[in-house]
Amino acid sequence: MLPVRGGRPKEEAASKQVLVVGAGLMGHGIAQLFAYAGYPVTLTDVSAEALAAAPERIRGNLLRMAEQGLADPERIEPALRLLRTVGDLEVAARDANFVVEAVSENLELKQELFRRLDSFCPPEAILATNTSVISITEIAAKAVRQGRIVGTHFWNPPTLVPLVEVIPGEQTSPETVESTFNLLTEVGKHPVRVKRDVPGFVGNRLQHALWREAISIVERGIADADVVDEVVKFGFGIRLPVLGPLETAELVGLDLTLAIHDYILKHLENSPAPSPLLVDKVAKGELGFKTGRGLREWSPEGAQRVRTDLEAHLFQWVKGHRVS
Ligand SMILES: NC(=O)c1ccc[n+]([C@@H]2O[C@H](COP(=O)([O-])OP(=O)(O)OC[C@H]3O[C@@H](n4cnc5c(N)ncnc54)[C@H](O)[C@@H]3O)[C@@H](O)[C@H]2O)c1
Repeated sequence: MLPVRGGRPKEEAASKQVLVVGAGLMGHGIAQLFAYAGYPVTLTDVSAEALAAAPERIRGNLLRMAEQGLADPERIEPALRLLRTVGDLEVAARDANFVVEAVSENLELKQELFRRLDSFCPPEAILATNTSVISITEIAAKAVRQGRIVGTHFWNPPTLVPLVEVIPGEQTSPETVESTFNLLTEVGKHPVRVKRDVPGFVGNRLQHALWREAISIVERGIADADVVDEVVKFGFGIRLPVLGPLETAELVGLDLTLAIHDYILKHLENSPAPSPLLVDKVAKGELGFKTGRGLREWSPEGAQRVRTDLEAHLFQWVKGHRVS
């Protein structure tokens, strides 16, 4: 399934009112996705500034996509007309029947928000969280109707990256999962079903196992940060779009995989705590692109080049996977 398909038939779209809570990096993109697909979308945020900036951010994204042939210029203004911004959560939630929460990654904040959404939204509304790693069951804990709360883990930018992990909490009803899966498919995403609610779901468990080892390699002086990235980008990373890790294991043979694991696993990083190098960098304010220095040095131009290259790469990927 692809991220930039045509809009919904009018009757179908009109029957769904989407609410996106949080107008930041992910929230504005998720709002864009549904509005461009033809759904009326309400966007809300506690920051009046973030909320006010969202429509222009979305217009800018769609114009850049249109330059690449990935959005229809004629549909940009109609999509923006389907978007309304509302500061008050209770007002924003009144008519919503599909909600995506994309506020800051904080359990207490999300729990309280879902408690309030549960009381403000119509009883049939599905309430989805875009948490990166937090248990869906814990996020739902303070709500009454936990059966309609589900995880929908989008990836940045949600307008271009197709995957959404759909995660049921312990109380989530099968109907909630099914409707969510169907809606995400309709708007051109590639949803996958995660069977059990565990921290990090699938994508971030895999991703952070890799990052833990990558940081450990730098910390232990085995290779510099740029070399670690080159090993991925010019090596096994090129295969990944075609061959997932388990397909690779099957390709080389599970017998070879076993022999390698037998030898290597005891040598890999298995610390349950963040790396001391990472802790030290953060304590010193060396945060990466944001501060110009992290595990490497970043000039503003260098950081911008990476962002531009990433967007260009994602545009190419989407173009190559488009259905007409
Ligand atoms: N950034 C990513 O790559 C990424 C990818 C997948 C999932 N996520 C998850 O998506 C969520 C949002 O991440 P982001 O990167 O968009 O963050 P962000 O900081 O860009 O945006 C968060 C927004 O939430 C708003 N907010 C905070 N409390 C609120 C409240 N009570 N009500 C309404 N709005 C509130 C903030 O004002 C801010 O505009 C997090 O749970 C994050 O883990 C992020």
